Amino acid sequence: MLKGRGLIGPDDLSVEELEWLFDLTARIKDDAGYLRQSCRGRLLASLFFEPSTRTRLSFEAAMLRLGGSVLGFAEPGSSSVSKGESLADTIRVVSSYSDVIVMRNPKEGSALLASRYSTVPIINAGDGGHHHPTQTLTDLVTIKHLRGDFSRLTIGFCGDLKFGRTVHSLAAALSRYANVKMVFVSPDELRIPEYITYGILKKNNIEYAETDRLEKVINDLDVLYMTRVQRERFLNEEEYIRLKDSYILTTDLMKRARNKMIVLHPLPRVNEISVEVDDDPRAAYFKQAEYGMYIRMALLAAILGVV
Ligand code: CP
Repeated sequence: MLKGRGLIGPDDLSVEELEWLFDLTARIKDDAGYLRQSCRGRLLASLFFEPSTRTRLSFEAAMLRLGGSVLGFAEPGSSSVSKGESLADTIRVVSSYSDVIVMRNPKEGSALLASRYSTVPIINAGDGGHHHPTQTLTDLVTIKHLRGDFSRLTIGFCGDLKFGRTVHSLAAALSRYANVKMVFVSPDELRIPEYITYGILKKNNIEYAETDRLEKVINDLDVLYMTRVQRERFLNEEEYIRLKDSYILTTDLMKRARNKMIVLHPLPRVNEISVEVDDDPRAAYFKQAEYGMYIRMALLAAILGVV
């Protein structure tokens, strides 16, 4: 269904294709032998120009579990980019060595640029503060598994909504489902960009609200999507220090939330969810990280045309 396709933004897959991918993910998760060795002889190039734990390692684990192999780098200092080589030249060369490329780069639009020079599919593993579509697949499949579907879903996004690419991608992806409501909780300085609210949500008639008070809205939510204030995106360290602890989800605050609310976080976490919350059955962020590997297996198998 997705053979030979890349994934640059959250809209690159239709709702029908997403549903197909979720079913495939469930099958992979439930049957340890399914698709194992299906990608034998295929090569994934893993090009990370920015740090990563989950995205890089879950992609690599996914490819290895499918029987394929992985080459690449985990930081640009070990590649010829450090000698001044352009992204276009890097991609031209690496695409002649591999069958699919997964790339994280700090520049917005870099994945789209890479796709113009690549002869193999490019998967965007995060381009600056723009998009992170495979995190969105992870988030969606987690919500689907834990809730059953996306109907009548009220989701709250909390933290750094300005630079948070995972928030931008998930809000855009969910705007295609009916009866979804969104609540954006952030300090004024880190509000959700207008290209999401005016450009996407209003256009799709999605109901949304903005506030700076998590405690006022937590009881309205089915899903609370916490995010880290991202030090690396700030030009001014003092501003980061002033804003970094704007929200901390504590066990006390969780007492105000619904019994069935689920807490997601793309991770890494710094201080915005206290570790005591990890023991709350509503805390689903580690399960979410695990789903990330299964859906990346499904995505790679689909792109490489073995399903
Ligand atoms: N969620 C996420 O993108 O985590 P990493 O930065 O560790 O890949």
